[in-house]
Amino acid sequence: MKLIKFILNGDEVETEVRDDMMLLELLREKLSLTGTKEGCGEGECGACTVLVDGLNVDSCLYPAMEIEGKEVITIEGLSEKGWQEIVCGIDLKLKRGEILGLIGESGAGKSTIGLAAMGFARDGCRITSGEINFDGI
Ligand code: FES
Repeated sequence: MKLIKFILNGDEVETEVRDDMMLLELLREKLSLTGTKEGCGEGECGACTVLVDGLNVDSCLYPAMEIEGKEVITIEGLSEKGWQEIVCGIDLKLKRGEILGLIGESGAGKSTIGLAAMGFARDGCRITSGEINFDGI
């Protein structure tokens, strides 16, 4: 077991994690944040998507120990206003592989597609309006 500190949905968290614990287990089982779902458990479906330092990660494959000192955002961390901005104001142009990933995530629930969109948006653009363009399907 190792004691780690990180920021979870804006709050500092200090907790012990096992060497083999994945972030998904930590969030759901230890911290009772069940908005993050387990689907395939193999990094394929995106049901477990969370943001770590602004990037989409599959929490089912992300070692819990690696969040030491980082910021994690789950669907519980999105305010109602923030959620609406993501859903109503998205402007993405995606290639075929990216589309399949996003569809997989949306199949797991709007929480993950929202987090995915937020992850795309974090790199330099503010989403205030727009649309999703599917290129290649
Ligand atoms: Fe499917 Fe993590 S549960 S990618």
